[in-house]
Amino acid sequence: MKKDFLDIAELTPDEVWALFDLAKDLKAKQKRGEAHEYLKGKTLGMIFAKPSTRTRVSFEVGMFQLGGHALYIQETNFGKRETIPDVARVLSRYVDGLMARLFGHEDIVELAKYASVPVINGLTDLSHPCQILGDMLTILEARENFNNLIVTYIGDGNNVANSWVTMAMKIPFTFRIACPEGYEPDKKMVEQANQSNAGRVEIYREPAQAAKGAHVLYTDVWASMGQEAEAEKRRKIFKGYCIDGTLMQVAAPEAKFMHCLPAHRGEEVTGEVMESPQSIVFAQAENRLHIQKAIMVKLMGLR
Ligand code: CP
Ligand code: NVA
Repeated sequence: MKKDFLDIAELTPDEVWALFDLAKDLKAKQKRGEAHEYLKGKTLGMIFAKPSTRTRVSFEVGMFQLGGHALYIQETNFGKRETIPDVARVLSRYVDGLMARLFGHEDIVELAKYASVPVINGLTDLSHPCQILGDMLTILEARENFNNLIVTYIGDGNNVANSWVTMAMKIPFTFRIACPEGYEPDKKMVEQANQSNAGRVEIYREPAQAAKGAHVLYTDVWASMGQEAEAEKRRKIFKGYCIDGTLMQVAAPEAKFMHCLPAHRGEEVTGEVMESPQSIVFAQAENRLHIQKAIMVKLMGLR
């Protein structure tokens, strides 16, 4: 792997598979109570310009289980008090790796450019690569392979959707998104994915059409962090893009429901679907821990 992990696009398909294998191995070791302290004595600095539950806790617990330590650095004014190149060079003198959750993607690119230690993307406005790697691991556990896989995303073409599009460049599967006009995922990423020899990305307007025969129905919030002022307007625009029991019935009989969380019941998903046996949202949340441990071992360890 390269020094940093900023996007799925930077990984080769072999590297993606190696991360799944290592994550499965680390998960099995953790479940057996077997020590796997591959990052003993190492420190991860975690920079957060936005809130988090899963990302913060899974990286911190992951570092602990790997024998290392994680440090929470709240940065409500990232790049304002001090330039990003200065922050990058200072923190690189203290820690062995950085994970950052920022607004502009260009900020994490700049951080990585000036940091001498590995930088991991814990979500930007553009992408959320750790999320989709963990999600694919969850699908792999549920189905054992990705053969003929159709993942349908209902809702906003946001950072999470963009990372799904990017994943379709690496693993052959079909990614469909149903979204209102003007809320599509990043156009360039869609073009790149469809030019690759891997999967396909298809854009729909009608949720029921996109959901037909899908193995996974996936959604995320209608207003992402930083878009709070648009929440009311978006509630109107996205009405009709809710995953409910009727939509689940259009999907394949064995279809799973997935959501990166946090979820807004009654908006992008009904409470009934969230709590249904088809919902694997908590297995999905758990796998953030295992896949991120694999990423950290690959970038910060000797393995
Ligand atoms: N899914 C996810 O990244 O959750 P948090 O925002 O709680 O970290
Ligand atoms: N799209 C959401 C994902 C949260 C994990 C956001 O950026 O707020």
